[in-house]
Amino acid sequence: MRPATETSYKAGLTAVFDRAAPTYDRMGVEFFTPMGRRLVERAAPAPGERILDVGCGRGASLFPAAARVGAHGHATGIDIAEAMIEQAAEQAEREGFDNVELLVMDGERPDFPERSFDVVLGGYSIIFFSDAPSALTTYARLLSGSGRIAFTSPVFSDDVFPFLPPMFTGLVPQSLLRHLPSDWAPERIRERFHSWLADPDVLEATMGRAGFTDVEVEDETVELTAPSGTAWVDWSHTQGMRVLWQHLPEEEAAALRARLISALDAARPEGRPLTMDVPVRFVTARPRH
Ligand SMILES: C[S@@+](CC[C@H](N)C(=O)[O-])C[C@H]1O[C@@H](n2cnc3c(N)ncnc32)[C@H](O)[C@@H]1O
Repeated sequence: MRPATETSYKAGLTAVFDRAAPTYDRMGVEFFTPMGRRLVERAAPAPGERILDVGCGRGASLFPAAARVGAHGHATGIDIAEAMIEQAAEQAEREGFDNVELLVMDGERPDFPERSFDVVLGGYSIIFFSDAPSALTTYARLLSGSGRIAFTSPVFSDDVFPFLPPMFTGLVPQSLLRHLPSDWAPERIRERFHSWLADPDVLEATMGRAGFTDVEVEDETVELTAPSGTAWVDWSHTQGMRVLWQHLPEEEAAALRARLISALDAARPEGRPLTMDVPVRFVTARPRH
């Protein structure tokens, strides 16, 4: 990405997550919290280890990791969106986490000495980087010899907007994507996400070039639960799909909202919450040094 394009892409993304922060992962829809817990289980931080959570948001992975490393360990959460860091810092204070530090920082330019962490985590965050493969090279250098990286990504398909699971195929027509700014045009989306994440072999090769070994790419489902179709749609304004909502003309947004609510409510047993098995890609690796 050219520097000017990168700056405007990041400014747009930061605004999206700054606006989402007050209600992010606090809308009665369970998804990021269970995914964060699972990511931490996979990374298995030990007491005393040093964690870096990149794009930590409100701390879905950061807090479970901080609990595991305990008083002799340390967990640093960085995020480009200041409002996310403020929310996470309030939670750390409220819950008495003395081993947590929160910093506003671009995850593509982390300002830490080499080998200063044992675990790097990235829950649905590294995927947003303008040049993720190059950031991965930096993370390999930030990790200690016994360190590991663990991050998640959606399992991308060409048929749906990148932050929607496959069950949404057909519900969000490709024609709506024409309203997105050029940073989010289908070819940019393919370049930024699909080019290195969609094919596990390509992903493994990318990790290898970045300085990692023992790469594991495993797709698992994370159960999303929402009280209703309306709750899911309201929640979708607080995650990556907000990018689309923000750019849809009012009439098209209202029509999409109605269509999604009715399809989601039709898929939910009478009087029961909506549940969806969302495929999530879990990537773990160790630095080669
Ligand atoms: C979908 S949220 C995930 C947040 C959290 N990891 C979780 O699992 O709930 C993506 C996060 O990545 C952050 N992010 C995106 N690009 C970033 C960058 N270049 N540097 C740091 N954070 C970034 C966003 O601000 C947002 O908080």
